[in-house]
Amino acid sequence: SELGYGTASPAMGPVHRPRRLRSSPIMRAHVRETHLHPSQLILPVFVREGATEPRPITAMPGVVQHSLDSLRRAAAEAVELGLGGIMIFGVPTTLDATGSGIVDDEGILNTALRAVRSEVGDDILVMADLCLDEFTDHGHCGVLDEQGRVDNDATLELYAQAAVAQARAGAHVLGPSGMMDGQVGVIRGALDRAGFIDVSVLAYSVKYASAFYGPFREAVDSTLTGDRKAYQMDPANRREALRELRLDLDEGADMVMVKPAMSYLDMVREVADHSTVPVSAYQISGEYSMIQAAAANGWIDRRAAIEESVLSIRRAGADTVLTYFAAELARWWREQN
Ligand code: PBG
Repeated sequence: SELGYGTASPAMGPVHRPRRLRSSPIMRAHVRETHLHPSQLILPVFVREGATEPRPITAMPGVVQHSLDSLRRAAAEAVELGLGGIMIFGVPTTLDATGSGIVDDEGILNTALRAVRSEVGDDILVMADLCLDEFTDHGHCGVLDEQGRVDNDATLELYAQAAVAQARAGAHVLGPSGMMDGQVGVIRGALDRAGFIDVSVLAYSVKYASAFYGPFREAVDSTLTGDRKAYQMDPANRREALRELRLDLDEGADMVMVKPAMSYLDMVREVADHSTVPVSAYQISGEYSMIQAAAANGWIDRRAAIEESVLSIRRAGADTVLTYFAAELARWWREQN
């Protein structure tokens, strides 16, 4: 009606009362559309070569660079909490122009993959960051050509070798995060030729050149000067994301990712609507640290903000979420279940 009361008379008030479904905890739980479960969460972790104890990361309060020992314990805890996966980033002590530490079986990431896999077996997905930036002295995600630009095809060769080394070290899932053209296809081909047909590729398909990666640079002792705008996506672009998605699906990606998450929830939805494989989203370092900082100042309710942020990422369409809050969320989930 003109008064907006549906078919009821004004005296009786509105016919449609959405609040009825919000009126009690049991009703709210009953009609809840989106759920968070520990198996959907992936914990990103850092491991530092030569470290004998965990080292705090100033820009990410609560996150550390692990030693091999503390990493094993964190992995065992992740299993105990029922997390879906643990994504490992290596922090090597020696760097070079080609990032050779990533293909070295004795390099920190491959050593950590072996240590974690022997600790957890098949009780959690062991995932490896597949990118050169932590291992190169210039901090870029690929090798440089004579003009100092990131050389796409020369980088692919190294990714192929790194993929086989990571699979040999026991990774279940590889996460190529360098945004080189053709990386998923090259990695898939290298894995298959080496007999690793069951090792999966979680493609960082839609990865934007974001200011919110700031704290991660400290987390991996990044040496990067400049930016990654010549390979990561322009935050202004939407259509281009669908192109990246299609290419990665064609190249054989098993799962695809959108990154960052919170400033790109529209893209999470877009990718979820177009993907034929599971979709992941990465709540990155800057997103983590903003929540930590606001909560430390007493400006927001920490637990409520964390749960709301990750639930929103799921609601936007992510099947799985990489978040530094994964273990804590799983602990809260357990308390309530
Ligand atoms: C690249 C990589 C980055 C992150 C994950 N993989 C950094 C970058 O692209 O600059 C960022 C993760 C985060 O900020 O939490 N190896």
